[in-house]
Amino acid sequence: EKKHKVTVVGSGNWGSTIAKIVAENTKEHPDLFEQEVQMWVYEEEVTIPKDSPNYDSSMGDKPQKLTEIINKYHENVKYLPGIRLPDNVRANPSAQDAVKDASILIFNLPHQFIGNVCKQINGHILPFARGISCIKGVNVSDEGISLFSEWIGDGLGIYCGALSGANLAGEIAQEKWSETTIAYDPPPMDHSRAASPRSTSPVRDGGAPDLTITPADVQHKDAKGKASKTKLTPMPSDYPPLDHETFAKLFHRPYFHVSMVSDVAGVSLSGALKNVVALAAGFVEGRGWGDNAKAAIMRVGLMEMVQFGKEFFGETVKTATFTEESAGVADLITSCSGGRNFRCAKLSIERGVSVEEVERTELNGQKVQGTTTAKEVNNFLKARGLEKEYPLFTAVIGELSWSCPPQTDSQSVANINQST
Ligand code: NAD
Ligand code: 13P
Repeated sequence: EKKHKVTVVGSGNWGSTIAKIVAENTKEHPDLFEQEVQMWVYEEEVTIPKDSPNYDSSMGDKPQKLTEIINKYHENVKYLPGIRLPDNVRANPSAQDAVKDASILIFNLPHQFIGNVCKQINGHILPFARGISCIKGVNVSDEGISLFSEWIGDGLGIYCGALSGANLAGEIAQEKWSETTIAYDPPPMDHSRAASPRSTSPVRDGGAPDLTITPADVQHKDAKGKASKTKLTPMPSDYPPLDHETFAKLFHRPYFHVSMVSDVAGVSLSGALKNVVALAAGFVEGRGWGDNAKAAIMRVGLMEMVQFGKEFFGETVKTATFTEESAGVADLITSCSGGRNFRCAKLSIERGVSVEEVERTELNGQKVQGTTTAKEVNNFLKARGLEKEYPLFTAVIGELSWSCPPQTDSQSVANINQST
């Protein structure tokens, strides 16, 4: 019997935290998973900070390769400082080598970099691999809008689900309690083995398809309800079944509770769009408008998130994903309280500089995703003459397009309530 080999593609603040989680679980479930977890690292030279728990004077002040630091000291000193990674996380600077023979690929990097990485690994992955995207963003092109889970899946010829939730990485890395939502809804072939019922892990939104259908070339409906272009290769029968139960075992920790659902569009969209709302909340906070105004932003933001999902992914998206799951309302709340988008937007107002400038000076290489998502979503809406139907998303663009001095008359964000 084979075991699943797991690779995390990405090693930032969240990528490193997810690598920690899955590496703890591959050790706990040796019947299902190979112990070692490969983590692809975008290589860079890093100086170990003097206040790092790993710092000792013999390390010197010379920059060293980040992969070598991670493999030697088991700490990502740049993107997740102060957290010990399990010894079975293996940092790898070669994306092609990291994904070799992996049957589970976890995509976890800022969305602007995913295209390039997928180009590098295309043709180098197992044809029957399955993916989970932890990316919070949407892919907008001339052809329209798609989810990264779909886009990765179509591009690599595999099926890819999504993980998203109220998941500030720093808290989870410290093993503070949180929940997450994983959406996984592959075509029936992955559920076809008699020994692979999903019965023991709760599926809150009705679950994955009928277990009895088995044709290997069954067409899969994507998140918009269209038949997917991808013809999937079935997982060989000597691998443990890759179903909701197995994914729950890979991601669930005592401090990280997993809810399995099938609404990939709802999970992906809420993760992407809440970043735009978090920027708005940061602008409001930066101006000192108070908690009531911030709550109003969150209320309107949630409505626009649902409206967007229903309008453009209506065939499959479920309102309950936004209103009942960690990926929806809970992520919105945590992101509007302590997320990077929120913090950078707040500081941009206080300092009278752009959000990008704050990102550059304050985040030590980490990225905010809301600025690009806001622009991409706005371009998409503008092309369809729908900007006015989404007053909050549109107001955020107004705020991003000028920077200093800080606005005092609250025009754009304040107008939201009048138009809804
Ligand atoms: P991050 O913001 O820490 O980003 C930095 C990462 O980008 C580093 O790994 C860096 O090596 C990499 N990078 C820089 N330049 C690159 C290049 N040219 N090509 C490829 N990689 C490059 O990343 P993160 O926090 O791990 O975020 C990944 C995804 O997870 C994002 O979509 C984010 O929205 C989402 N997310 C983040 C958190 C969080 O709290 N950090 C929580 C949930 C979801
Ligand atoms: P930020 O990227 O704004 O920090 O949000 C993190 C997140 O997605 C928390 O769930």
